[in-house]
Amino acid sequence: MQSGKMTISQAAKREWPAKLTKVLCLLVIPGMLIGLVTSLHFMDYFRDGLLQSFSGAPVQQEEHDIHVHMLGSREYQSFHHKMPDDELLWRASMVPQRPGKIPIPRTPKVAFMFLTVGPLPLAPLWERFFHGHQKLFNIYVHSLPAFEPDEAPSSVFFGRHIPSQEAKWGDISMCDAERRLLANALLDYDNERFVLLSETCAPLWNFTFSYNYLIKSHYSFVGVFDDPGPFGRGRYNERMLPEVTLQQWRKGAQWFEVNRELAIYIISDMKYYPKFQEFCRPACYVDEHYIPTMMYIEFAAQLANRSLTAVDWSRGGSHPGIYGHHDAQQYLNRIRGDQGCMYNSEPGHICFLFARKFAPNSLGPLLQHSSF
Ligand SMILES: *[C@@H]1O[C@H](CO)[C@@H](O)[C@H](O)[C@H]1NC(C)=O
Ligand SMILES: *[C@@H]1O[C@H](CO)[C@@H](O)[C@H](O)[C@H]1NC(C)=O
Repeated sequence: MQSGKMTISQAAKREWPAKLTKVLCLLVIPGMLIGLVTSLHFMDYFRDGLLQSFSGAPVQQEEHDIHVHMLGSREYQSFHHKMPDDELLWRASMVPQRPGKIPIPRTPKVAFMFLTVGPLPLAPLWERFFHGHQKLFNIYVHSLPAFEPDEAPSSVFFGRHIPSQEAKWGDISMCDAERRLLANALLDYDNERFVLLSETCAPLWNFTFSYNYLIKSHYSFVGVFDDPGPFGRGRYNERMLPEVTLQQWRKGAQWFEVNRELAIYIISDMKYYPKFQEFCRPACYVDEHYIPTMMYIEFAAQLANRSLTAVDWSRGGSHPGIYGHHDAQQYLNRIRGDQGCMYNSEPGHICFLFARKFAPNSLGPLLQHSSF
């Protein structure tokens, strides 16, 4: 029997045979037989009632949801939560304390986090990249709140948009969006590596290669460098002391890749965040400094000190090169040919897994010349 809460009217019905029994037994001797039969019925009712109260109160829906969030369960696949950021970050920051192997069957996954304005023009390329590997990744998309996604239910992006808020370039709201993506992805314990991408990013290699490259890496891929010029140290503000000194100030690309430990640190941080929020405003671009500087101070030895996402600054100016229909293939070949990188302390490896920036009209050539 399913446990359920007894309503008042049900309880009243169940009491009735007991009263009936008493009346019958006391009043009429010939009615003794009937009394006996009714008493047996009463015993049945009593037993059912007792069983019911021992089988536990019905689980409240709210409690169940909290339980699922806290475990970061794989059941928690939809993002219909309306948690404010502080609650989301708090829940996502929980770390198991019991040492040893995780005692549940589990395949480590890569969380692909897309920070976008709206549509994903290169979605068909990504669909092809992800095809057949459903058990090894999760997708999270943060777009501007006004954007209404219209992916087909068969798409890997369907239902993967997280509750989003306005995010502006160069503003702390951009870091908030990144933390929102990380926190949603952290709720799923299967996610081990966390890649931040934009709608102009394209994958360079097949999924299997990329997955192994990430999962087996001893380092996290955060671009971190010390730029002595006006666009590096020149953006440092002394009021960040004592948390951040000039010597610790770093610059790096926004498009990071981190493991679980670093991801949890980023969403939990309350030490550096207020300093950057207050003292890194344009012409200090917080998305280029906050995470690189914090990661450098706290986790230098765990960083690869390079980004996995190639970008072309060779054309000069303050914006990177954008590749379209005519030059996407050339750019792709150039990036794929670059093998001058260290990987797990060994030289001569592939440097980049992704590249940007590709215009929407590069989709045709990208599909035609992709390596997967
Ligand atoms: C994936 O790419 C790697 C490296 O380019 C290659 O060695 C491998 O054969 C590819 N696997 C598949 C299934 O295409
Ligand atoms: C990255 O730089 C830090 C020092 O800033 C160093 O400790 C670390 O080993 C470097 N990472 C790699 C992979 O060389």
